[in-house]
Amino acid sequence: MPVPSEQHDELDQLVVAVQSSAKYRTICPQAIRRIGQRTLTQRRNRKEAIKEIKNTLHQIAGAYLTGTTRYDLWLHMLRSEDPVADVCRHILTHHASTRERLPFLETFYAETLAGIAPVHSILDVACGLNPLAIPFMPLAPGACYVACDLFTDLADFLNAFFTLTPIRGQALACDILTDLPEPPVQLALVLKLLPILEQWDRQASLQLLRRLNASHILVSYPTRTLGGRGKGMGATYEARFLEIVRTTGWPYRRFEFPNELCFLISKSSGGNPDRLEPGLMG
Ligand SMILES: C[S@@+](CC[C@H](N)C(=O)[O-])C[C@H]1O[C@@H](n2cnc3c(N)ncnc32)[C@H](O)[C@@H]1O
Repeated sequence: MPVPSEQHDELDQLVVAVQSSAKYRTICPQAIRRIGQRTLTQRRNRKEAIKEIKNTLHQIAGAYLTGTTRYDLWLHMLRSEDPVADVCRHILTHHASTRERLPFLETFYAETLAGIAPVHSILDVACGLNPLAIPFMPLAPGACYVACDLFTDLADFLNAFFTLTPIRGQALACDILTDLPEPPVQLALVLKLLPILEQWDRQASLQLLRRLNASHILVSYPTRTLGGRGKGMGATYEARFLEIVRTTGWPYRRFEFPNELCFLISKSSGGNPDRLEPGLMG
């Protein structure tokens, strides 16, 4: 929707105000503008709007980063310490989503991707620190990996990390609701993202899954909250996933881990269809 010019100025001011706080200094401006545009129609004044935008950013992104992000130190460790997989495991503890996955990281990708491995190209949507799990993924030599999330300093760190790996990687800071990267890939990772998107717009999940230019999509849902509670969460998200894919007819396979429920969708019959089980039809 086009933004009137006076609102442009107001949104620019909101970007400056939100980025002046240390926590959101490196959030990409597009996300602040998107959230700001809706917030301006609902809040009485600028101060309230800034507070509301920061609350939203905390819920969708800030809350998952645990402790301080020490990108320079981590790069130093990655360059100087062995084995690299152990350093990666350490770094993965600094984002709640990957920390929760650590107890079963060795089997997570091996099991979910067995039917399509080795994987040649990946788009990791709203990646957090997940690209640091590359040593645990069944990738083809020289595989291509594109990762995106909201933070520019995270993207810089991941780009430096990629230079230390044998794969061809690229990280971008972008708001996937307005600037989704759309390279054709064998696999898109959409891990623990859909519940966050649906807080913004209930249609956003299906729209994202449809737009992804991927033969396969690994979707996952947390089955515990950040605080550790989980009663009924898995069943609720599973019902929602079935509702989302029902209209598409895409086959999928289901995988369950101690705190994460996954579905590998096969959008096209590309890849190795003979190795994919028929899956359930929605
Ligand atoms: C629950 S975490 C999942 C991280 C990662 N996918 C994983 O499972 O390890 C959600 C991530 O989505 C990112 N995020 C939320 N909204 C986003 C948006 N509109 N565009 C890009 N990234 C977004 C957050 O910064 C956060 O890193």
